[in-house]
Parts: sequence; structure tokens; C-alpha cells
Amino acid sequence: MPVSTKPSFWWRHAVIYQIYPRSFADANGDGIGDLPGIATHLPYLVKLGVDAIWLSPCFRSPQIDAGYDVSDYRDIDPIFGTRADFEHLISEAHGAGLRVIADLVPNHTSDQHPWFQQALLSPPGSPERARYIFRDGKGKHGELPPNNWKSVFGGIAWTKEPERAGSASRQWYLHLFDSRQPDLNWDNPEVRAEFEDILRFWLDRGVDGFRIDVAHGLIKGKGLPDFQVRATMVGDHDDKTPSDAPMWDREGIHDIYRSWRSILNTYPDERMLVAEAWVKPQERLARYVRSDEMHQAFNFDYLLTLWNAQAYRDVIDTSIQAMNAVGAPATWVMSNHDTVRHVTCLGLSIPGTRPPGIGENDEQPDEELGLRRARAAIFMTLGLPGSVTLYQGEELGLPEHTTMEARFRQDPAFFRTEGKEIGRDGCRIPFPWKADAPALGFNTTGKTWLPQPKSYKRYAVDQEEKNSDSTLALYRQLLKIRKERGLGDGALQWHESVENVLDFENGSVRVVINFGTEEVPLPQGTIMASSLDLDQTKILPGNSAVWLENVD
Ligand code: BGC
Repeated sequence: MPVSTKPSFWWRHAVIYQIYPRSFADANGDGIGDLPGIATHLPYLVKLGVDAIWLSPCFRSPQIDAGYDVSDYRDIDPIFGTRADFEHLISEAHGAGLRVIADLVPNHTSDQHPWFQQALLSPPGSPERARYIFRDGKGKHGELPPNNWKSVFGGIAWTKEPERAGSASRQWYLHLFDSRQPDLNWDNPEVRAEFEDILRFWLDRGVDGFRIDVAHGLIKGKGLPDFQVRATMVGDHDDKTPSDAPMWDREGIHDIYRSWRSILNTYPDERMLVAEAWVKPQERLARYVRSDEMHQAFNFDYLLTLWNAQAYRDVIDTSIQAMNAVGAPATWVMSNHDTVRHVTCLGLSIPGTRPPGIGENDEQPDEELGLRRARAAIFMTLGLPGSVTLYQGEELGLPEHTTMEARFRQDPAFFRTEGKEIGRDGCRIPFPWKADAPALGFNTTGKTWLPQPKSYKRYAVDQEEKNSDSTLALYRQLLKIRKERGLGDGALQWHESVENVLDFENGSVRVVINFGTEEVPLPQGTIMASSLDLDQTKILPGNSAVWLENVD
């Protein structure tokens, strides 16, 4: 990055593009995307107009949860390349003016991590075990789990350790996710010191920031009390009440982020932390981004909002207020690698609902209607002040793979719920670059770790690049205007509007979105961009949006 001594606060307005490395571009042809593949496609991202890339984890891992099960935090998994490839990618990205955000997974390690392997070989009460959460079982012979917690991926959150030579007793260990992802014990100073060192390790190698996985889960309630409900990430609580789940959003968590922030502050060039914290209400989430903690947090309330004008207005107001109160930027996100792609959700009978995956036997979306709404939605998202995260492929209007056969599935959530939850594979499909190439240009061998649906051909980059009305062309246009007009650093002001319509201005741009089906009159102003071909009419059709030159 160009070195400057004046802070730019880039993270307050940045558009961050999430790359799912397994599925972006595969340079070595083994069917799984890799770092050299990403490096080749940086010009595409520059042309798109984003400011930063966030890479889902590419650290050494048995890949039980697609890299969210790390066995060596200081090395790159060979399926993605080498550490030299990672460093090359950082330097190429910086050369192209893009920042790079790595994905840090501190709540749990892989069961193959040397620490966990040592723990299994060490007796109860040993320092090796104290890095994780081992407990004796309940029941006469310890045959019952220590409490009733459920795993986010389904089933119970405890596994009895395997038999150990020379020991009659077997303890249980906690895993909020898969049994091969044991939770670390963050009350142990050794764990804290290790992660501080890992942060420094990658900061020294030039990463511009970290997305913190399961940021709300590190500290567990004292005594690990029973909790009635399944520990879903979203929790059991409503919008207004903080969760009382003993595994989420505990007070002590904030000390960890304060110490991390103080480490980042010693580095030049404004490194940043972004929280993946499924915490409600927004005031609780804001506690993660107080001025001495992280820089920003994903706004999952926004991601989960149904297709409804009032619901969006409420979530936008609440988010901006809560973040303003702590001096943090609001953020906006509509899709990621854990949720059904928003374009698909917007084509369901209750538009915007997020089922835990969609399979052949589930309701299938109206693809055209979903795309029409998603194109309108991006006018709202990119029109808002703050930072935006895009998920790879949304700029193509790429839908979820909703008819994948069960035999291809890989998500541990599918297996742990015995198929009751379809899981997240459908949003992680290899990227279509070229309509008429093997694997749609994802590689040259035609191999893919998940199958690509037939429809992806028409969304391929080379097709959309030829078409000035494509979703890709639209994203490029809006991102350009957003940057030129400084919308990320702007301020929002609502205009009163008819039912089902949102109308706001942000500096020189006026944003109007019609969530209904009936056409509505447009306010005055030249159309700068529109989700449908409108040709300066004075009417805004249903499920469409415009940016107008603000004449006020
Ligand atoms: C990641 C998921 C992952 C889980 C466990 C998350 O929230 O985004 O993909 O399965 O953490 O690490």
C-alpha cells in the first residue's frame, strides 16, 4: 500500500470483497481454488472497484469445516499454496491498491492441532489439557456429557475423548461446532499469548486486518451451566433482549479484543479487525467496536432482514444509531459463505427468509424475481454510509445451487443433523469465469470440489462483460459512483415516501427503492443508475431501484 502518515480511516467506508479461496479460481487444476488463482484475478477485482479482499481461512487444516478447523495458524494449507504464495498475493494486492484481510479462527482449533494432540496424551489436570475445555462426564461412570449444550452444527457439543493407553478414565471435551473443532480455553493466559503472537506473525507479513471468526464465543459462562436451547449462532433471543446463552457474548470477551487492538495500534498503515459476532441487539454488537476494541462488525441484522421497506428502514436506523454511539462505522452485508445467497432468498415465497440451505426437495426460488430484487437491493446497500462487504459472485447475480445431490455435500452441518439441514455447500460453488471453458473457467482441468449448476453458464464473467445491462456492469457502475461521490463517508437523510418505498439521500445521491409490486412516481432528479432499464421515465416499477442526482 502507498505509505502515508495521515490516517485515511479506510475501514470506515471500505467495500470489502469476500473471497472463498476454495471456490474462486484454481490455478493448479486439482478442483479446489488456490492463492495463485486469486492472484491471477486481482485485475478483475480492481475493475470491479472494491477496496479490500477478505480471504476465508487458507491456513493449514484437515478441511473438516472448509478451513475453519486450523491445525497450524502460521502456515498455509498446501491445497491453497505456500506461505510464499500468500506473501506474493499480499504484495500483488497491495501493488494493485487492494488491502488484504485474513480470517482468524480463535474459538477452536482443529483436533489435529499439536496442542489438542498433546492434550489427548496428557492426564486430566495437566497444563496440556488446560488449553481446551475438558471435563469429567456426569453419571455414575462419567458416561453422560458434562452439560446439555448442543453444537451449532447439530448433535451434542461434547465428545468423549478416545481411550488412552494406561488410563481408565475418559474425559469429555467441548466443541460448539464439529467434534473435530475443540473449543479453546480463553481463560488460560497461554492461549491468549499464543494468539497475540499469531496476530503479530501475520501483521509482520503485511496483512491489513483480520476477520475474527465466532468473535462472540470465546468466553464461556462460569461453571458451564446447562442451557435449554440449541446454541445456534443467532441464539434463542429476540431482537431486543441480549442473549443469556452461556456460550455467547460474555462480558469477559472484550478484554481480549482490547489487547488485540493495542497490538494492531503498534503497526503502521491502519490495520483493522472485523467481528463475526451474531449478537443482538445492535447495542450489544456495538460493544465489540468501541474505540479500543475492533474496528467494525458484520451487520447480520441487515443480512437477515425480509424484503420489506419498513423492516429495512428500522434496521438501517437502529444500526447507524448504535454504531454512531460508539464512534464506529455502520456496515452492510447481504451474503456470505454461511448463508443462502440473498438473490435466491429474495426469490422465495417469503422473500428474504434464510433457510439453513436449500435442497432438491425444498421450495425452489423464482430466479428471475430474486435477481430483480437483488439488483434493487444493491442500490440500497451501496447507497448507505459506512462499509460494505460483498460475497464473491453476488456481483454476477449468482444464485445458490439449490438442487445439489446429497452425495456431493461436504458441510459438517449436513452430516451432524443427519441431512435435516441441507447446509452451506450451495453458496460455495466454484466461480464461473468463462461460459465455454472446462469448469466454466474455474480451472483448465474441469475438476471441481462441488458441482456447478447448469445455470451458472449464463452468469459467467465473460458473458456479463459483454452485456451492458448485466449485474456485473451494474455493480461496477454503482461502485464507481459510490467512490466518486464519497457515499461511504456520507450521511443518510430520509425522505418521506409512499408505502413499500424507501427514499433517502446520501450527499449528492438520492436513493429510491420500491419493495412493492405497484409502480410509484419518482421524485425529481436525473437518473444516474437504475436496476431496470428506465430511460429517464418518471415512474419506478415494483421491485426496482434508482440512484438520482440529488437536486435538494
Ligand atoms: C464461519 C463458519 C464456520 C464456523 C466455525 C463461522 O461462523 O463463518 O463457516 O463453520 O464459524 O468456525
